[in-house]
Amino acid sequence: MKVGRAEDIAEENPRVLQGPGKSIALFRVGGDFFAIDDMCPHAGASLSGGPVEEGIVTCPWHYWRFRLKDGAWADNPKIKIGCYPVTVQNGDVFVDVSNPKHDAGAGKPACG
Ligand code: FES
Repeated sequence: MKVGRAEDIAEENPRVLQGPGKSIALFRVGGDFFAIDDMCPHAGASLSGGPVEEGIVTCPWHYWRFRLKDGAWADNPKIKIGCYPVTVQNGDVFVDVSNPKHDAGAGKPACG
């Protein structure tokens, strides 16, 4: 899925994309882009509304923390939410929403 131009995606304003059956949050950190499930597995908050620090987004409701690079819960990395490959081609950002690298609890290798 083409998301838009890289220069139009602001670090302080993550985007929420509609993937197949779920929302996906696209974050920009410096020149890098990361896409993970938007819905927090704890109680459903939108992770796109949480602050990002050192590559980790903190859920705005109860402060669970997820690594952007692989969707792992920072305090228990065996638990993961979906993360999605992001590529930038000629300034256009693409997210492969059809290809999550994790589902919650799957414990599969990192995608980041
Ligand atoms: S809804 Fe995210 S930590 Fe509770």
